[in-house]
Amino acid sequence: MSVNPIAAAHLPLSREDMEALWMPFTANRQFKNNPRLLTKSRGMHYWTQEGREILDGVAGLWCVNAGHGRTEISQAVAEQIAEMDYAPPFQMGHPLAFRLANELIKLAPAGMTHAFFVNSGSEAVDTALKIALAYQRIRGEGTRTRLIGRERGYHGVGFGGISVGGMVNNRKAFGVQLPGVDHLPHTFNLSENAFSRGLPKWGAHLADELDRLVALHDASNIAAVIVEPIAGSTGVVLPPVGYLQRLREACDRHGILLIFDEVITGFGRTGSPFAAQEFGVVPDMIVCAKGLTNGALPMGAVIVKQGIYDAFMHGPEAAIELFHGYTYSAHPVACAAGLATLDIYAREGLLTRAKELASYWEDAAQQLADLPAVIDVRTYGLIAGIELAPLAGKPGARAFAAFTECFARGQLVRTTGDIIALSPPLIIEKSHIDQLFGTLREVLKTV
Ligand SMILES: Cc1ncc(COP(=O)(O)O)c(C=O)c1O
Repeated sequence: MSVNPIAAAHLPLSREDMEALWMPFTANRQFKNNPRLLTKSRGMHYWTQEGREILDGVAGLWCVNAGHGRTEISQAVAEQIAEMDYAPPFQMGHPLAFRLANELIKLAPAGMTHAFFVNSGSEAVDTALKIALAYQRIRGEGTRTRLIGRERGYHGVGFGGISVGGMVNNRKAFGVQLPGVDHLPHTFNLSENAFSRGLPKWGAHLADELDRLVALHDASNIAAVIVEPIAGSTGVVLPPVGYLQRLREACDRHGILLIFDEVITGFGRTGSPFAAQEFGVVPDMIVCAKGLTNGALPMGAVIVKQGIYDAFMHGPEAAIELFHGYTYSAHPVACAAGLATLDIYAREGLLTRAKELASYWEDAAQQLADLPAVIDVRTYGLIAGIELAPLAGKPGARAFAAFTECFARGQLVRTTGDIIALSPPLIIEKSHIDQLFGTLREVLKTV
């Protein structure tokens, strides 16, 4: 086996060659019998191992916001890895980590002043939950140990994340979860909100369910609430008008921290740097990952309000304030990728580009509404969820058929259940939008 990755990527793989890899969130046997292999990416496109061009409708996995093959990032990464491949993050530092934190907090709402680096969205979620618990203890409210998530939420796959998360398939096989977790109701309601344009009008009252949980447990036992401003992995569930504001107010009333999981909404997806700014609601912590390095290297972060960081900065100066971190926290090569990425976003105006394209995107998506298979279309910024009527007795089969047919016709989409989710690179042009929804229209007629 050659160690040159480019040469290796072009060698055909036999079924046997594929056996050793246990693929994540994948039907392994089905995939290995009928693989979909990508070997190259540039701009809005991937290429398969056979050389077919694939329009990327999902920015890889909601992460390649600046488009593929950005040489600014690959050069920064190559230079950094040659100069210094690794530096320990505990009781040691390197300049890029500080510089990236400075650039990152500039994108966050005012008052969110400190960043803690991790390697993924899942780690960022667990880090934020731990910071919430430790913060409540530090400020003398150590009985606040309960964590509140939301039905249909996705917060990665750590034990913290699956506990506060609310997608049944991600929870049901594992039995053990964090104790003391409750869930707000999800805000999904087809009969009230199907084919809404902009944010759905119905559902803000569901934020008041937090008061019910407070009445049950008492606020003195609740540490934090975590929600995705727009739920992505469950199939694009938009916040009803006023919902996030009401949740913020309820958290404030009860001294509960509000965490926004912006792993997919961060870095321009909604038309603002973060959904917090887009929806005018400032949480106490923002969890982010994916777009932070344009997907080029694994990295995530938790951004916290000044008051949270300050609460920890007490006691003897020689004392470690938070016993938490990862070997690869603020990895120098990931920091180089992050700095190059944030620079591209700023230079090309990508963090607000979704706003410019949102109405074109929405119109193009809503044109699918007349297809018999389609029971809802919901969009925001450069996100779309297209919900299909499930085939009788075969949940998910219709959307999966659409996914494979789209791929056969040169386009990558993503499915969850019977929902097709789209989240293209933010460099997308109107002609790509036409192509994306044009192909989808033809495909949806066949499933
Ligand atoms: C909202 C949200 N949180 C957390 C995660 C987990 O991120 P990762 O897969 O990097 O662990 C994801 C991944 O899609 C996500 O969408």
